Amino acid sequence: MAKLNFQNLPRTIWLEQDKSDGIWGLYLIDQTRLPLQGDILCCRTLEGVRTCVQSLAVRGAPALGVTAAMALAIWAVNEFDDSYVANDTAALDAAPENEFLAKLQAAVAEVSSWRPTAVNLAWGAQSMLEHVQQELNKIVAQQSIDNASKLAKIKDSMLVYAQQMAKDDEAANRAMGSLGATELKLGASPLTICNAGSLATAFYGTALGVIYSAYERDIIQHLWVTETRPVNQGARLTMWELTCVGVPATLITDSMAATVMSNGLATSIIVGADRICANGDTVNKIGTLSLAVLANHYGLPFYVVAPRSTIDAQSPNGAAVTIEQRDGREIAGVAASGVILPQDKNQFKALDLLTCNGASELVIKNGHQLDIARKGGGYAFDAWLAGTVSGAAVFNPAFDVTPAGLISAIVTQNAIFRPPFAF
Ligand code: MRU
Repeated sequence: MAKLNFQNLPRTIWLEQDKSDGIWGLYLIDQTRLPLQGDILCCRTLEGVRTCVQSLAVRGAPALGVTAAMALAIWAVNEFDDSYVANDTAALDAAPENEFLAKLQAAVAEVSSWRPTAVNLAWGAQSMLEHVQQELNKIVAQQSIDNASKLAKIKDSMLVYAQQMAKDDEAANRAMGSLGATELKLGASPLTICNAGSLATAFYGTALGVIYSAYERDIIQHLWVTETRPVNQGARLTMWELTCVGVPATLITDSMAATVMSNGLATSIIVGADRICANGDTVNKIGTLSLAVLANHYGLPFYVVAPRSTIDAQSPNGAAVTIEQRDGREIAGVAASGVILPQDKNQFKALDLLTCNGASELVIKNGHQLDIARKGGGYAFDAWLAGTVSGAAVFNPAFDVTPAGLISAIVTQNAIFRPPFAF
């Protein structure tokens, strides 16, 4: 039996209390910088988490669900001002107008709006709200406890609930991994898009969870990975993750998918999902639809793997889903970041001078941009290199809809659904 090295894979997001000042932080591995750097970011505020979500430092539908719950727990313990409840007996009853609940509801609405397409973000936030409503009902009934202690209990329970959500997510991934592996034929060489791996979840992954499980059972030996323009989650994240754990994989550009399918090199397609509609239409990373059309043409099975929380009964079909439109610069150029390693004292001196007043923005001909800043003992850079004419019109939808009719099966943690889909 093949053995994978999961110990080489970091967790995607976690909560941790700083030992020096007792403040809770949401920690995450910065996916904008992988695979070249493995920076860990720490957010202590809702605003900090928003920046991470919108910049794609944390991304992937299940990871966004857990992030939403953790963000709300962080908000409650670090940002909600509870000084008023200490002596106010009415301030913490279970009524909807209750101050804590009202502010929490506003925070839930805000978190849910950060990205529109992956349903798990709103699901994670809403689940936390429901948890708090239940806790409030239980705790408020306890007359013997003062209001400040009641609120402290609720905050503690939010931290526990968010951490449990991460554990449940991993367990669901492992379950769909072993269920989905039974679908793959011995010796199959599947193809995947984007990153539906451990990095897109709390740990282990959805579509890649199936790959891991099938690899460890010696069902498959290899995976095809499309680079997934424009953000390159396939090239940057999936290839990195597969290298960490030890699954042999081959990277191709998005436009090579037809070639590897037509000549029998790729034998099935396996993808994650950002939202699965009530009729089975599946919204996933842009480029998924092209793969489904090709798979249909070449008679290859097309699998979607996602937790039940990605199934959205409120969206009857793909036309009902808002597709996130992202910054055109993702298409009009290439972003890169890294660390500059000065080779002698003159280079150190020059970089010190450049960065002594904070980040330095260098103006470069042809619209390229380069920022250099001090980081730790070194110098980090963030670059954007223009790849087309200045002012080019671009269209940048982040997701597309694969009609249910092109999907062979949808794998969840407790069932495999086949067309016609009824969840
Ligand atoms: O924009 P992203 O990186 O958050 O999009 C993620 C995806 O679309 C993935 O393909 C994935 O299948 C959904 S998460 C497992």
